[in-house]
Amino acid sequence: MENTLALVTGGTGGLGTAICRALSDAGHTVIANYFTGLREQAMQWQQQQAADGYKFALAEGDVSDFDDCARLVAAIENQHGCIDVLINNAGITRDGTLKNLSKQKWDEVISTNLNSVFYMTKQVIEGMMDRGYGRIINISSVNGQRGQFGQGNYSAAKAGVHGFSMAAAQEGARKGVTVNSISPGYVATEMVMAMRPDVIDHITNEVPVGRLGEPWEVARVAVFLASKDSSYITGADMYINGGLYMH
Ligand code: CAA
Repeated sequence: MENTLALVTGGTGGLGTAICRALSDAGHTVIANYFTGLREQAMQWQQQQAADGYKFALAEGDVSDFDDCARLVAAIENQHGCIDVLINNAGITRDGTLKNLSKQKWDEVISTNLNSVFYMTKQVIEGMMDRGYGRIINISSVNGQRGQFGQGNYSAAKAGVHGFSMAAAQEGARKGVTVNSISPGYVATEMVMAMRPDVIDHITNEVPVGRLGEPWEVARVAVFLASKDSSYITGADMYINGGLYMH
């Protein structure tokens, strides 16, 4: 069993919940970050998880804000100790064809999905390298690999996530810190199910395995990358997309 402290950003969301649970099953102590202002919903989530037998600590914070990331990590480390595993999972969509893609939609997605990965990694990687151990897993997307109609902002951010992961992986490599990304395809979470039903049908028909992914199918891979056994995997991008994109 792993006995490390793991922080999952956006931990109360669709993919985040599955990752928190799978990490807990593997023995990690898990802290779920949730977005500033959503305390009530987060506490309901925490109670629901407890009813299912999962004990998670909560940490409020806006990962798109550099100073708040510094505060968030300091608060967690004061209360719980050093973070050994960071899963940068928080993410949003603001889809629109370029004609409708406002600067605001661009900025929101780049801040939340890409800047946050640097901001959070910056807070933890030095300590991990000093201690000689760490696991950083960044959630990218199939749409960062292949581009997606109507997702100029999201595709750019997610491609950037993997570029950043490869660079950080090289810095951590000799210090026991691995940095990898995961590129899920279309997984049946609220984010995907928010698309128009005809668009979901169209995309599902394109997936070679013929269905959407399940959150646990991504979470199990995250748990392996978060484990001590994954020590020779760094700078990799794990494709979990039902065959939608192969490279
Ligand atoms: N390639 C080429 N043309 C396309 C296309 C595609 N993939 N999709 C649509 N078009 C065409 C349409 O046929 C249509 O053409 P006509 O005007 O000639 O009829 C035109 O583009 C407009 O298409 P829409 O009717 O879809 O345009 P819209 O403005 O109503 O909607 C949109 C735009 C909201 C971006 C919608 O296309 C959409 O939701 N697309 C899917 C975006 C997507 O995949 N989001 C993923 C969210 S989940 C996620 O991001 C998680 C993850 O990591 C995978």
